[in-house]
Amino acid sequence: MSARRKPRPVRFHRSLHSREEAEAVARVLRSGRTGGGGKVSRRVESVIRRWTGGARVLLTPSGSAALEMAFQALRLRPGDEVILPSFAFVSAANAILRAGGRPVFAEVEEESLNLSPDDVRRRLSARTRAVLPVHYGGRPCRMDEFLAMGRQKGVAIVEDAAHAYGGRWQGKPLGGIGDFGVYSFHETKSFSCGEGGALTIRSKKLVQRAEVIQEKGTDRTKFLRGDVGQYVWREVGSSYLLGDVLAAILEIQIRDVQPQIARRRRWWQMYRDELLPLAESGRIVLPLPLDEDRSACHIFHLQVRPVRDRNRVLRALSRAGIESSFHFVPLHSSPFGRRVLGTRRGDLPITERVARSLIRLPLHPLLRESEVKRTIRAVRKAVG
Ligand SMILES: Cc1ncc(COP(=O)(O)O)c(C=O)c1O
Repeated sequence: MSARRKPRPVRFHRSLHSREEAEAVARVLRSGRTGGGGKVSRRVESVIRRWTGGARVLLTPSGSAALEMAFQALRLRPGDEVILPSFAFVSAANAILRAGGRPVFAEVEEESLNLSPDDVRRRLSARTRAVLPVHYGGRPCRMDEFLAMGRQKGVAIVEDAAHAYGGRWQGKPLGGIGDFGVYSFHETKSFSCGEGGALTIRSKKLVQRAEVIQEKGTDRTKFLRGDVGQYVWREVGSSYLLGDVLAAILEIQIRDVQPQIARRRRWWQMYRDELLPLAESGRIVLPLPLDEDRSACHIFHLQVRPVRDRNRVLRALSRAGIESSFHFVPLHSSPFGRRVLGTRRGDLPITERVARSLIRLPLHPLLRESEVKRTIRAVRKAVG
């Protein structure tokens, strides 16, 4: 008698890499020019530049590095505040602290998991220098409100579009709307070269600063353009370039962005449609439907009710062979946040409820319809 074979797990994330990417990498290796700021990087920057409608684009080793460059370029002074969601990736808060500023955490909106403009307005002060909306899961933030704040209060808007390459808000490219935009091309992202990122910059003055910070604090970028005869140390910088080997992968990854997003959108929509009855019975909270704003559909998430059932549901999904995951542990309630910033559990109740109840389902370029359906059945069974 043959033992019944266990079905293969439905993977939470897998990146898709083609033979063409391998060939592009081999070409760079054969060229012997593998460092940052080379021919391939420049081509990729101009592709992203065209997408963002003309912002200056600098490829970076990660989204985290791009965040660090943005806040250093803003020249924060001690005590300067930056408002960001606590439901965000740790690199944003690190980047603010490393630049000498102070992170001020605000709530997200429960329906979108994006930064709440109303809560940000309550926290604006004479010390606020910047606001950092995160397009969570690729869904656009309410940029009209943040841009108005930027104009009225003179604060910089730094868009964290790490999840959002290829998404749009009112026709405009996410990551190309604020003063700065940050992309991540990490392995876990929809378009990836393993580790990588980009910074988009819209003001000329900030471009010059960011170029110097990226090249170890020197004006080497100007030198390479032929604008100066030699390059010299101008301020504190670091090495924030992406090597051309990784840029070669990225060049192919971002060639056909919209078909990739359309595929993710299909699975996203199927999850939402098929899980709607569970939401109607109050057992889960689903993300808002996709509207005319064009989400990059990077993440599909749901929230379990009651909140205390979340970990039980995660375990049941795991037993059913479905890889699923929680997401951000709120920064204000983290050990470092509490010790250094004096924030406390209970400060941001919506954020805390979202973080404790959230589950992300598999969504990646190799996901098949049968796997989406299996996941939906497992969620129905686990939630009950
Ligand atoms: C919202 C957000 N911002 C920034 C980052 C940092 O990007 P990277 O991993 O490329 O440094 C991440 C990483 O997952 C993220 O989720």
